[in-house]
Amino acid sequence: MRSALVVPAAGRGDRLGADRPKALVLLAGEPLLVHAVRRAAASGVIDVVVVVAPAAACDEVHALLAPLVPGVVVVPGGAERQDSVRRGLDALPDDVDVVLVHDAARCLTPPAVFADVVAAVRAGSPAVVPVLPVSDTVKRVAGDTVVETVDRSELVAVQTPQGFAAGPLRAAHAAAAPGTAATDDAGLLESLGHPVRVVPGHQHAFKVTRPVDLVLARALLAEGAP
Ligand code: CTP
Ligand code: MG
Repeated sequence: MRSALVVPAAGRGDRLGADRPKALVLLAGEPLLVHAVRRAAASGVIDVVVVVAPAAACDEVHALLAPLVPGVVVVPGGAERQDSVRRGLDALPDDVDVVLVHDAARCLTPPAVFADVVAAVRAGSPAVVPVLPVSDTVKRVAGDTVVETVDRSELVAVQTPQGFAAGPLRAAHAAAAPGTAATDDAGLLESLGHPVRVVPGHQHAFKVTRPVDLVLARALLAEGAP
């Protein structure tokens, strides 16, 4: 019974607009990826770590993470997030039975979320996602016109780490049509009819996407967030 973590970190970070790939952007002096992997490792529930990095930065990423996670494996990413996750899965050892997939960009996700997700998979759910309630009113639009207001009580915002039984996750990625760009892995299992269970997410597990998100991350650390 071994748990693995796959960290997609190969994106360009176009919306952040920094001078380097997003996973290598510094937050309080350390790359986002280092923040993310350190918090994941501190959960104590992960045995194997595979990081999917920008092809040109694999050596740099390995050097950054090896002191934190002895035995970390770094592989180059693909064009879309889904391609990168698939490459990470291909690099996992066969004896892993639980796989977490966690965006490097969710760099302040607390260790307890990783532990909760692994526990829910081990309790029998093939797919587990951390979620938060949606706080904005959400409307469906067509062009510049509102079509309807969606009932917010039925909606959640989905975070990572997402956790999976290894077999169904591998099968879902293998079955996914090439060129489809799923933004989350649970969606691939959903489309095959697997039940996806939700557990509470965390405010600090937001994804660094735009410059304002880095401001929030810096402020949280300055206020003593773990
Ligand atoms: N990711 C990846 N490979 C890709 C695209 C994304 O590994 N081809 C990773 C990113 O590094 C990130 C996570 O998937 O950790 C979530 O993606 P996102 O926040 O969209 O990051 P980017 O694609 O880098 O950002 P943008 O969409 O603004 O370019
Ligand atoms: Mg992206």
